[in-house]
Amino acid sequence: MRNLVTGGAGFVGSHLVDKLMRKGEEVICLDNFLSGSRLNLRQWDGHPSFKIIEHDITHEIEIEACRIWHLACPASPLHYQKEPIRTLKTNFIGTLNMLELARKSNAKFLLASTSEIYGNPKEHPQDENYNGSVNPFSERSCYQEGKRIAESLCFDYQRVHKVSICIARIFNSYGPKMLVDDGRVISNFICNALNNKPLCVNGDGSQTRSFCYINDLIEGLTKLMDSNYNKPINLGCDQELKILEIAKLISTKVSSKTKIVYKELPQDEPMRRKPDINLAKKVLQWEPRTDIKKGLDYTIEYFKNTL
Ligand SMILES: NC(=O)c1ccc[n+]([C@@H]2O[C@H](COP(=O)([O-])OP(=O)(O)OC[C@H]3O[C@@H](n4cnc5c(N)ncnc54)[C@H](O)[C@@H]3O)[C@@H](O)[C@H]2O)c1
Repeated sequence: MRNLVTGGAGFVGSHLVDKLMRKGEEVICLDNFLSGSRLNLRQWDGHPSFKIIEHDITHEIEIEACRIWHLACPASPLHYQKEPIRTLKTNFIGTLNMLELARKSNAKFLLASTSEIYGNPKEHPQDENYNGSVNPFSERSCYQEGKRIAESLCFDYQRVHKVSICIARIFNSYGPKMLVDDGRVISNFICNALNNKPLCVNGDGSQTRSFCYINDLIEGLTKLMDSNYNKPINLGCDQELKILEIAKLISTKVSSKTKIVYKELPQDEPMRRKPDINLAKKVLQWEPRTDIKKGLDYTIEYFKNTL
């Protein structure tokens, strides 16, 4: 089976490529290396079933595939806010180009959407019927509105061109292969703790997130692609933790004398984020299995070897 993975050199994409390659499938990876790294895929260099093409998906390309896993888009605020217009173009024009490939190849199409489409939610936990509360002119909106338009495009390709789609609304995930300097909270805390630097908590750290270990997420994505479910579905961990709790947990695990410092809360930082994953449990028989403490141990081990 020929798979096209956009954003395959990124954090989630490279784990997905690993899983597909281990299953013996053929993988073509499209990436412009904006927020990903070739190193994440180096174990497949020279493998006859693997090909990596340096390409920006905002430009058209002709490739045939049976399955398109559309993940290309910087996921860390640090990256997507650096070039907001490019982020919007990736989500709109890039998704349009990839959906055109799906239409031409009659390929099944999976969009990696995000919990950010719920914005700063007024409902907790968020289920798939909640339409979100997004500020269209905040610094996060290039990502949030970008992903919302990407979802709309998928549905219109399904309605108009009968493209077979599935949409994963991914909540915060973590694990090995996150970039050292990409500004995501878990990698940030771990790298700072390992370097004996302070852990910076926004506000008083009472805002919550729920973190899903990468292997669980990849299992959810593959189950979704294998299913016939064609509406958005939340994939994430429903165990809610305060950011301050995460900081304390990591600083204890790294056993450094790390200090926790408090910074001003950024504009439009969501205060609570917790998925309702009942739909995924029912439709995909999926739920995360990795305990946060175990997942953090694996991730800390990775960064100890990387730094
Ligand atoms: N990791 C998470 O917690 C999370 C949460 C919600 C949604 N997601 C979604 O999952 C997908 C993957 O996330 P990630 O954490 O691996 O992000 P990432 O930034 O690590 O990876 C994204 C990859 O896409 C590539 N890319 C970006 N723009 C591109 C373009 N125009 N053309 C070609 N390649 C491009 C980057 O170089 C990178 O390799 C993203 O679409 C993201 O929105 C991730």
